[in-house]
Formats: sequence, structure tokens, C-alpha cells
Amino acid sequence: MNLDFSQIVPYIPFMLEGVWVTLQFVIISIIFGFILGSLVALVKISDVKWLKLLADAYTSIFRGTPLILQLLLIYFAIPQLTGYDISPFLSAILTFGLNSSAYVSEIIRAGIQAVDKGQREAAEALGIPYRPTMLKIILPQAMKNILPALMNEFITLTKESAIVSVISYLDLMRRAQVVASDIYRNFEPLLFVGVLYYMMVMVLTIAGKYVEKRMRASD
Ligand code: ARG
Repeated sequence: MNLDFSQIVPYIPFMLEGVWVTLQFVIISIIFGFILGSLVALVKISDVKWLKLLADAYTSIFRGTPLILQLLLIYFAIPQLTGYDISPFLSAILTFGLNSSAYVSEIIRAGIQAVDKGQREAAEALGIPYRPTMLKIILPQAMKNILPALMNEFITLTKESAIVSVISYLDLMRRAQVVASDIYRNFEPLLFVGVLYYMMVMVLTIAGKYVEKRMRASD
């Protein structure tokens, strides 16, 4: 066994900084993806046929191609097309936000459609308009079903964020590689950031469980 963790000690602050770098664009992407995904979901359950088709095509393309390909397309192809360079940070947010919104839209659409249609009919019979029916009756019930899948999506995004290392964005993953090439050892820095990723995912998992429990409390 050839393990020597003492060599990564001077690099620990550098790698810890990567947690923040990663979290920064993951959080922004999650918010961006959630907002856009909600809008796309609303389109999907609307009656506007051509918009629905567009939303379905959008989802299909972003779910049907590899995330890493989308990232490289946005990072390299946009400058080629427009003549403007795009920073790795912006590319990452755009790619992850757009990609996540495709998944989120399906999660929300399915969650809304899973709410018993008697609920909407009852609201209609009582003369409640569309907006309050949606906001006060359907969505609160849908949220409970959606939450675990949504949490899963956020966890996926956190882990998939590691692929931004291919556009030389100095995220957590990339930092492990930088350290590895500096000290000619791979195992220790990779293991170290692996533990950090795991801790991030655990925080998300625990937060999700907590929110879920709070929501069930109202049942
Ligand atoms: N590795 C998968 C891909 O390349 C990840 C897709 C992202 N998944 C997600 N739920 N946002 O297609």
C-alpha cells in the first residue's frame, strides 16, 4: 500500500475553495433550471398545441444528448457562431440550467397531472378561477409528490457538475486533478474531493428529508 496523505495537506485550502466554486454555479443552475422548468411544465399542461410541441422537442433534445456534449457545444460553438467568447462560468450555468430545466419540467408536469382530477373539477364547480386553483389547490398537493424527484435532480446536478473540469473551469474536480499533477499522486487528492462531494450530497439529502417531513406533517 502506497498512501501518503501528508502531501496533500498544503493543498487542502485550495481544494476546499473548490467546494464553493462548485456550489456557486450549481446553486445558480438549480434556480435557473427550476424556474425555466416550471415554465416549460406549465406550457406542457396548457392547451396551446404548438407551444406544447415546442416544449416536448426541447425536453427531448436536452434529455436525448449527453450533458458533456451540450457543455462543449455551448462553450466552443457559441464563440464560433457569434464571435463572442463565453466564460466557463457562464457556459456551465447555461448548460446545467437548460439541461436541468428539461428534467424538472417533466417532474413537475407529472406531479401536477398526478393530482386527482376531482380536485380541479371540485374547484371548477365552486367557481374558483384557474390561477387560485393552480396556486392554492393543485400545486401544494403536487409539491409533495414532486419533492423527492426534485431533490434527486439537484443531487444529480451537483455530481454531474464535475464535468465542467473539461472546459478547464477550476471546480472541485479540476482542483483534484491540478493537485494530482503537482504531486504526482492521484489517489489522495481524488479521494479527498470524493469525500467532499459526498458531504455535499449528504447535506442535500438531509435537507430534502427534512422538507419532506415538514410537508407530510400537514397531512
Ligand atoms: N450523464 C447524464 C448525461 O450526460 C446526465 C444528465 C443530466 N441529468 C440531469 N438529471 N440533469 O446525459
